[in-house]
Amino acid sequence: MPNERTLESIRVDTAVPPHVPRDRVVDLTWAIGSVPNDLRDPYEPCGWLSAPDIPRLLYNAPKAGTAEGPMRSRGHWVVTHHEDIQRVYTDNDVFSNKGTAEFQQLIGETFRSIPLAVDPPEHSKYRMYLMPYFSPARLSLMEPGIRDIVVEMIGSFEKTGEVDVAWDFGRVFPVRVFMGLMGFPPPMFEQFLAWEWDILHSNSLEKMQAALRGVLKFLRGFIAEKEATPDDNLVSKIVHGRIEGRPPTEEEKIGMVWFLWLGGLDTVAATISQMFRRMALEPAIQSRLRANPELIETAVEEFLRTQPLLSSGRLAKRDFEWHGVTIKAGENVMCLNSSGNFDPAQFADPRAFDAARPINRHFTFVGGVHKCLGAPLARRELWILLDEWFKRIPEFRVKPGADTTVFPGLLSIRNLPLVWDVGAAG
Ligand code: HEM
Repeated sequence: MPNERTLESIRVDTAVPPHVPRDRVVDLTWAIGSVPNDLRDPYEPCGWLSAPDIPRLLYNAPKAGTAEGPMRSRGHWVVTHHEDIQRVYTDNDVFSNKGTAEFQQLIGETFRSIPLAVDPPEHSKYRMYLMPYFSPARLSLMEPGIRDIVVEMIGSFEKTGEVDVAWDFGRVFPVRVFMGLMGFPPPMFEQFLAWEWDILHSNSLEKMQAALRGVLKFLRGFIAEKEATPDDNLVSKIVHGRIEGRPPTEEEKIGMVWFLWLGGLDTVAATISQMFRRMALEPAIQSRLRANPELIETAVEEFLRTQPLLSSGRLAKRDFEWHGVTIKAGENVMCLNSSGNFDPAQFADPRAFDAARPINRHFTFVGGVHKCLGAPLARRELWILLDEWFKRIPEFRVKPGADTTVFPGLLSIRNLPLVWDVGAAG
């Protein structure tokens, strides 16, 4: 059982830099989303790491030479408590986002992922540039289109009594919304998902590089097309806008379009799959939401808290002391959101799914200046989805025999067949 782990059991005797205290060196591979489980609450194995008796800084041992993938081999500090994670996300004097999600460096590209890899104060000009496209007013304009997609898609399977909600619905719906927002051609759908899969999940340098070449070539071509033929969609707006009064440079254009592409494609899909898995395994959540649709917004926040897809890293800008250890300039500090979101010092009864939780300061969208720009869109998509789903689909369950094993992270669950009794009261 995963919750039988103790600090002692995860300590490892791996060589680390001399300033790292031996008793902080652990193996947290199992906690970062790459080891699947079949628990109703798949993030449960990480919750104990935010208990008051756990040291405030751990050090995840380096994994040189394993099959873990090229991005994951360096040793790094890990914070697991809510208060410490909050500091890492908000203390911009000490922590930097330089290099974050800059997979493009693997093929020698030097443009930055904008706005994610840009530190304040420079960050704000890009954030201000993109923010209007995710404002409440803009999202309200998008809402009827989002609702149409949801209604059309649910309509295609509601009378059949079953759907693979991960593959045939969750994987498709948010990507359709995203492609519409950006103005990308719908036939690129499968190719986009294949590239993204290779970049984020293949663990093969060769595949990552091939996918990066493919997507960047496509995006540069698309930017050129929008330069010549503007339209009302976001890529065109980015290309033709003004940053502090001047046109964006080529590096800025590709930096913004590339990072939106990377951030916007499969995050909502993974959230949807895990949300439906949890509801299918815990029908009381379904009944409560069906009877109390006014709880949908707080319930979505609770789904987000209890399924934090990502853990984010920051670079130390300089040497500093924290919780009795020295962190050196250039070292990576990873925030284990799957532990911070269950910190008992922040959340009452953290393991319970409380659809009406009144205050919910989770880190699923991180915190501070880099808080996910797409969060308002993601939330809106999830609210609309639940609203329309409960109007049309009665109580659902996992199709007998289906495998509900899930990766507690962005990999999530690829297939999740659900069934319901057609004609039962919705
Ligand atoms: C449930 C869905 C989503 C989740 C869980 C999610 C998660 C995150 C996280 C954790 C970060 C911060 C990473 C870091 O600081 O290390 C982030 C940033 C970002 N996300 Fe999302 N995201 C979601 C949906 C989206 C969507 C739909 C879009 C775009 C359409 C998007 C665009 C962005 C952008 C542009 C940033 C960078 C913000 C900045 O640096 O100022 N995200 N997201």
